[in-house]
Amino acid sequence: MKPNFPDSFPTNPLWKSITLNQLQVFKTTAQHSSFTHAAKQLYLSQPTVSSQIKHLSTALGMPLFEQVGKQVYLTPAGQEVFDACQIIFKRLEQLEANLAEFRGMEQGHLRLAAATTAKYFIPKLLNSFCQRYPNIGISLEFTNHNEVLERLNKNLDDLYILSRLPEQEKIEAESFLCNPLVLVAPKRHPLTRQCRLPLESLEKESLIVRERGSQTRESVEQLLRQQGVSVQIKLELNSNEAIKQAVVEGLGLAVLSLHSLSATDMNQLAILNVEGFPIHRQWHVIFLKEKKLSLVARTFLDYLLKESQGYCQAFSSLAGKGIVFPRELKAS
Ligand code: PGA
Repeated sequence: MKPNFPDSFPTNPLWKSITLNQLQVFKTTAQHSSFTHAAKQLYLSQPTVSSQIKHLSTALGMPLFEQVGKQVYLTPAGQEVFDACQIIFKRLEQLEANLAEFRGMEQGHLRLAAATTAKYFIPKLLNSFCQRYPNIGISLEFTNHNEVLERLNKNLDDLYILSRLPEQEKIEAESFLCNPLVLVAPKRHPLTRQCRLPLESLEKESLIVRERGSQTRESVEQLLRQQGVSVQIKLELNSNEAIKQAVVEGLGLAVLSLHSLSATDMNQLAILNVEGFPIHRQWHVIFLKEKKLSLVARTFLDYLLKESQGYCQAFSSLAGKGIVFPRELKAS
């Protein structure tokens, strides 16, 4: 008996009727379960994303998503296409890396994602790398800790820079720089005159914190939780710079990475000497174990590990530039 195919059943072979571009748009939409988020990530308009998916569904002769309210879900056929996309794009990525080996360091692209606070030192570290390899293009995404982890899980970049290691077996990590988190107050705050304050003394103060998803915030909350100390959170801001300004204005105390404090900031801010601080963290560069790093990514990784040693020394000499902090806080 003749099977009952729909009228629109595709007659052309797949390679003639679909494009890699459509598959990329489809894959991104499936990963985000959202047309809007996919459009944002791919720098496309939402109608373009919808139309690419529509063309793909038409070419394949069946719907790939179903929409329930604002949420989109993969149909069983969509899931099949998504699984194939994972394999196709992984292979293409490998091919890209292999071909880049032939080109050496004369061409290529490096994709980095880093936690927000790393913006205070990564551009400095990138400087001499860019001078040494002027033909390498670099894209660098700064976003908070949790969003960097999401990018890692979606395999969007080559290397990721974070100060707390995720509990994942599938990653490799190298630590390269210390990240002391310090408690800051306005320069003339009464607590600046005291030494080794107990953590409980913060109970009378208000705190300004980063947004949820920030590791800096998570570290402070963890310390307070462990010590059973409760501090009023007065303000939540998604920028270290805005937090510094709010502290200067007297809205509260804040915990910031020492990297974010410049000698100029220290004309208006002071680091408090409070039990439990600094919170010692390390910066790590991480990548997926099963990912074959391109030559460019490997070269940058080696460079970062080497170059950051010099940066550590420069960092520890901050005291000489007017940043005064308890002795044990200086980077070694
Ligand atoms: P954050 O992360 O800038 O999101 O606080 C820093 C980190 O990874 O520790």
